[in-house]
Amino acid sequence: MTVNTITTTPFPDQKPGTSGLRKKTAVFAQPHYLENFVQSLLDTLPDLAGKTLVVGGDGRYFNRPAIQTILKMAAAANVGRVLVGRGGLLSTPAASVLIRKYQAYGGIVLSASHNPGGADGDFGIKYNGTNGGPAAEAITNAIYARSRALQQYRVTTGPDIDLDTLGRCTIQTTIIEVLDPVADYADLMERLFDFAGIRSLFAEGNFRMCFDGMHAITGPYAHEILVNRLKSGSDTVIRGVPLEDFGGGHPDPNLVYAHELVERMYSPQAPGFGAASDGDGDRNMILGRHFFVTPSYSLAILAANARLVPGYKHGLRGIARSMPTSCAPDRVAAVLGIDCYETPTGWKYFGNLLDAGKVTLCGEESFGTGSDHVREKDGLWAVLFWLNILAVRRQSVESIVREHWRTYGRNYYSRHDYEEVDAGAAEQLVQELRNQLSVLPGKSFGRYRVNFADDFSYTDPVDQSVTLQQGIRIVMDEGARIVLRLSGTGTLGATLRVYIESFEPDVGRQDQDAQVALADLIRIAEQVAQIRKFTGRERPTVIT
Ligand code: G1P
Ligand code: ZN
Repeated sequence: MTVNTITTTPFPDQKPGTSGLRKKTAVFAQPHYLENFVQSLLDTLPDLAGKTLVVGGDGRYFNRPAIQTILKMAAAANVGRVLVGRGGLLSTPAASVLIRKYQAYGGIVLSASHNPGGADGDFGIKYNGTNGGPAAEAITNAIYARSRALQQYRVTTGPDIDLDTLGRCTIQTTIIEVLDPVADYADLMERLFDFAGIRSLFAEGNFRMCFDGMHAITGPYAHEILVNRLKSGSDTVIRGVPLEDFGGGHPDPNLVYAHELVERMYSPQAPGFGAASDGDGDRNMILGRHFFVTPSYSLAILAANARLVPGYKHGLRGIARSMPTSCAPDRVAAVLGIDCYETPTGWKYFGNLLDAGKVTLCGEESFGTGSDHVREKDGLWAVLFWLNILAVRRQSVESIVREHWRTYGRNYYSRHDYEEVDAGAAEQLVQELRNQLSVLPGKSFGRYRVNFADDFSYTDPVDQSVTLQQGIRIVMDEGARIVLRLSGTGTLGATLRVYIESFEPDVGRQDQDAQVALADLIRIAEQVAQIRKFTGRERPTVIT
């Protein structure tokens, strides 16, 4: 076995976005593309000799060959040890668990999350640091800078590693250890939640659940935890086998893409609890019988009920939500007397707050919730948190949510996405809004008066780093808001996200459909941002 040094030329587009480098699979599969990025990453990390890296992915098309390449390049870079999930599989939260448990230097996760996979789909690669969370912007910027100057990469020759057998082998002096991708993660869940209590909920016979693995990474995790350890019943998991193309589906747990689960949950024989996770296992969708829990509400409800769960029974240090996420958790934090931090979109901004012990729970409106047990959002963790609450309260999901609204008021909330619009026009739309920021305050639109408007910027309270231009906020009196920003995870054109929210304290008015309750604000968003003019679209592509 020898090390080959390959001459290459830089690619101009290897700048990581909200969640790593995400591109069409065909882009990654072209000669040198993956290798250039991996070498840029390895060059950016200081001396790797003797250090441990964790490697795994969500099993999508190109996962296996990419892992073989990464192992050979890690060996050429003298990495001490690489822990890799059997079959090349690791969910994003499980990778975070392994990095922390084995005190690895960092981890490389191969995934394009909820984006479709396959030869015509998307692929991605992200780097997580020693704390188990997404690399800070300083690192991703350094990787990008290195990629712009890269002239060569180094890779060992020799046969591929057998990824399907647990055990240890070496490439050069680098130890490669193939681990069970599920066991350590499942053990941690067993320590955080009352598994005996949840088992009795299932054992009593009148409670059933359905989990949709979407043919993505969480099937094996759900099977081990729900079916084997919690005895939820052998028919609990649907679409539980990970497939390279996710069975042709879109592994995004929402009401559109998880339709089989949604049909079951709205059928006359619906079980009491339904859930789904995304391609790499960090997102969650929660459903009750004939009831959908708006993801923005999950953080608020978990926070309000945290003391019922063993891992959180001593209370929360604080909570954090991304700026566009509904302000519902702020009201819970106020009652609990703890801080609620508002960060830019993307999980990486929660890392410092979690590391500094300022927050215990975090959440985003995009079906993401998590805690200080890892440094990623965690789909199955959220499902187990809900199950633990249900096991203690013995109420339906719907009655828990309605009771929450009665106590704290209801934040009506919706996100409208305009996907694959012209990137230049989308930039122009945002620029036009920036130009209006100074004149919007004080203006009235029907019953709403603009209290303030800005382009959100964030100063990290731990390291004082500043992140600018994270979305336009138009905040009305009485808790109503319109937020507009461009997605940082798309791979084609631009995606405009419009987040609309209002607050309803009156119990008698908490029963409306969100789109109806928000109709005036939706019209105001259109009027102020001229969405139709700039996007050429009559309506959003996806409404959540
Ligand atoms: C989207 C979500 C964001 C999430 C990210 C990664 O990013 O909005 O909350 O952290 O995916 O899962 P966006 O495309 O909006 O930049
Ligand atoms: Zn994901």
